Amino acid sequence: MRKGDYMIRRVKNEDAKRLVEIYNYYIRETEATLELKELTEKEYLERIHQVTSFYPWLVYEEKGVIYGFAYLDKFNTRKAYATTADLSIYVDHTLKRKGIGKRLYQEIEKLGLSLGLCKIISLVTTSNRTSISFHKAMGFTKLCLIKNAAYKHGKWVGVTFLEKNVQSIVTPSLNKDEPSYRNKVE
Ligand SMILES: CC(C)(COP(=O)(O)OP(=O)(O)OC[C@H]1O[C@@H](n2cnc3c(N)ncnc32)[C@H](O)[C@@H]1OP(=O)(O)O)[C@@H](O)C(=O)NCCC(=O)NCCS
Repeated sequence: MRKGDYMIRRVKNEDAKRLVEIYNYYIRETEATLELKELTEKEYLERIHQVTSFYPWLVYEEKGVIYGFAYLDKFNTRKAYATTADLSIYVDHTLKRKGIGKRLYQEIEKLGLSLGLCKIISLVTTSNRTSISFHKAMGFTKLCLIKNAAYKHGKWVGVTFLEKNVQSIVTPSLNKDEPSYRNKVE
């Protein structure tokens, strides 16, 4: 999707370098993600391939530079959970609160709907107030808090589960083992 100066498009192999740069900042400097060790470009490319075997992954680009990304992934590997997906969304730390996250989220939700997903879940660390506010603004509601779920940067971290029902249907259209999205990454 192209609008004015920006476009939101499917991820490509060549994006891995820039995406891991955006993501590694949050591994290194924050508890927004609970990974402890920065990833290499190769490791990140493997993640892109793994996720996009089944789910959509979008990047936000302005004048040829990527400033954010969002993807859906398995919430749980048990097959009957296929109607629920887990959201990851990251915006370059220098460009937060400029509407990039919202644009990305709106597009990834549309793709989730087209897959037949019913529910999107997001796990947010409790210190990440920005993300909690963002998710609420996108229509998510808080489900529960798991206190001291993780330990990073020398402190205990709680994790809040948030959910958004993207469609409420009695019998989901998704009747396969897996979402049918196949995002061939080139
Ligand atoms: C969370 C994140 C993806 C949001 O993206 P963003 O581009 O910064 O957010 P947007 O500008 O699209 O904000 C959309 C709405 O969310 C809410 N919001 C966003 N940042 C907020 C903040 N710092 N304080 C309060 N509300 C905020 C507002 O309602 C905002 O709308 P408004 O600006 O019109 O008031 C981004 O800040 C980010 O990458 N954070 C670090 C990584 C992270 O925490 N990822 C999520 C892991 S669970």
